[in-house]
Amino acid sequence: MGSSISPNNASLECMAERRTNLKSKPEFPHLFQPCKIGQMILTNRVVLPAMGNNYGTEDGSVTDRQIDYYNERAIGGAGLLITEMVSIDSPTGQRGSHQLRINDDKYIAGLSRLTQQIHQSGAKMAIQLCHAGLLAASDKFALQPVAPSPVEYFGHKITQGLTINEIEAIIRHFVKGAQRAEKAGFDGIEVHAAHSYLLAHFLSPYFNRRRDDFGGSTEKRSRILLEIIRRIRQSVGQNIPVWCRMNGTDFGLDGGLQIGEAKEIARLAEAAGSAAIHVSCGAYGMYFGYNRAQMGQPPGNLAELAAEIKKVVNVPVIAVGRINLQLGEQLLRERKTDLVAIGRGHIADPQIIKKASEGRIADIRPCISCNVCVDDLTVLDLTLHCSVNACVGKEREYSLNPALKIKKVLVVGGGPAGMEAAITAALRGHEVTIYEQQPTLGGKLILAAKPPHKDEIKPLNDYLISQVNQLGIKVKSGKKATLASIKKFSPDVLILAAGALPLSLKLPGIDGDNVVFAEDVLSGRETGHNVVVIGGGLVGCETAEFLLQQGKKVTIVEMLAEIANGVGHSFKTPLLNRLTDKAAILTGTQCKEIGKNSVVVNGKFAQDQMIPADTIVLAVGAKSNIGLLISTQAFVPEIHVIGDCLEPRRIINAIADGHRVGLTI
Ligand SMILES: Cc1cc2nc3c(=O)[nH]c(=O)nc-3n(C[C@H](O)[C@H](O)[C@H](O)COP(=O)(O)O)c2cc1C
Repeated sequence: MGSSISPNNASLECMAERRTNLKSKPEFPHLFQPCKIGQMILTNRVVLPAMGNNYGTEDGSVTDRQIDYYNERAIGGAGLLITEMVSIDSPTGQRGSHQLRINDDKYIAGLSRLTQQIHQSGAKMAIQLCHAGLLAASDKFALQPVAPSPVEYFGHKITQGLTINEIEAIIRHFVKGAQRAEKAGFDGIEVHAAHSYLLAHFLSPYFNRRRDDFGGSTEKRSRILLEIIRRIRQSVGQNIPVWCRMNGTDFGLDGGLQIGEAKEIARLAEAAGSAAIHVSCGAYGMYFGYNRAQMGQPPGNLAELAAEIKKVVNVPVIAVGRINLQLGEQLLRERKTDLVAIGRGHIADPQIIKKASEGRIADIRPCISCNVCVDDLTVLDLTLHCSVNACVGKEREYSLNPALKIKKVLVVGGGPAGMEAAITAALRGHEVTIYEQQPTLGGKLILAAKPPHKDEIKPLNDYLISQVNQLGIKVKSGKKATLASIKKFSPDVLILAAGALPLSLKLPGIDGDNVVFAEDVLSGRETGHNVVVIGGGLVGCETAEFLLQQGKKVTIVEMLAEIANGVGHSFKTPLLNRLTDKAAILTGTQCKEIGKNSVVVNGKFAQDQMIPADTIVLAVGAKSNIGLLISTQAFVPEIHVIGDCLEPRRIINAIADGHRVGLTI
């Protein structure tokens, strides 16, 4: 089977024309084809999928910040925007503390403001309706989360499945939510039956062990979803399409949903009135986070699931999962999907589609799939932010204004903080020069891209360098900034972004030739076969992985109770999985002494344990490189210290510092 939704009438073409500057470029003819979901006409085949942002108020209402965030992406060209998951029942079905809600008429006004704005900007907007089930923020509300049947998972113990009456009430909540969404002006309704939320658990044979009308056979497990689709279909206007997002597979879950059954569910959903099928996945254990896979996972990691579903339905299929523009074009060309959703790529650059339509591919700020966005949102309950785009959630506040007075700006250090500051300042009209002591720009980004699974850092570095070049920022590389050179340059503004210096330890043997810093190793310094890495933070773990890849025997010595402390949730699990079998990991252990061919450590189980070591790699942190600050204060009128130079932190902090200073000088 497979759908045929190619542009077939003049009105579609007409709609496409109305979106300013969104002409199809020869390299993306399929992406820029208009299409339809039900009666809803879309100007292109790119979807902004649902992504939580926590920008709502505490009671779940829309804020101006949220409208600005979505609007920026509507202006940026996506054909269809889907809201973050909106709670149909609160608090039982609510996930984030500031998640949007639609469980009361009072939310209609705010949601209407959102749809009106998006329509003015020329895009369509659908709402994603969700019940969070097991993942509801139950601890916050002191509530027992709900599930189809008793289960122990995600630290929650459910002793009783939902009763039939409770299921009926949930179906009614979805329908009421859809009716309110129609009143609020949404163009489409997506029922969230994917990931690890309530409806996905009904569909999954692992989670749904019921033996009544809502469990057992595929049809019965699908019943709640089918009822929701049918009843919403009956209660909202025909011009509003209703569809579902569902898992193509429960990756990593023995006894979970498999693609064969998912295809059957997709067919049932279509028969119930689903106007499209949006295919994501459930992700557990080793696959944790696979439905928003981090760097190192293959691009288009879920595309084959969409392709399989497309074989059995006639309605449009939406594929998602690390799809970039080129891959999206290819998947459409190969008819593996009808639309492609680009999530994090839209967080990183809201203008991704507009830039593609203008042939400005090199100007697209690349998402590096570091998952700071989703980890900080879901684990720490923070508002959405992004490592590479400091403007996320600050669209209005950070709009670029020309400088009132053009200044001569000197940036010392061409790493991410320095380049971002230079670019932002130059965009505002300042005259900017960068001094970089290494032969090339990039700073720590160059080393950060070296360990396995980290190559996606490189496109970020390439992007920043290309922007520096395009803006005509002068770069003096291979030149260490000195007091004399800065004095001679005589800047109005000095931005110190000289990074950080690695910390050492006070230990017998620390000055030996066999002791090196992690950054030396990542820069290419040879080590012996037996390597002990002291420090099991992110840098230590990644350097260990880098060495393991070269066939070295690696021991990680970490004084804390676990390694990879402070590493984002979705990054940490795969990192630990990869390291656990390959490296010897000594936690709760301190290095006492370094010898010529060994180190001596004291651990929780053994004192004075000797470990053979040809090379000892120090990865014990870094300190700010602010040597130039005091000496330049006397003669530079305005000085800013940013990035690791201010305090060693993550890429997100470097870019945020650089952008903020570039905007304020
Ligand atoms: C910050 C963040 C929040 C998300 N929130 C939701 C959500 O509310 N509902 C949903 O169905 N998926 C959610 N997702 C998953 C995305 O819709 C998408 O499937 C995923 O990011 C993979 O697409 P990408 O590789 O293009 O980012 C979220 C993802 C991210 C990164």
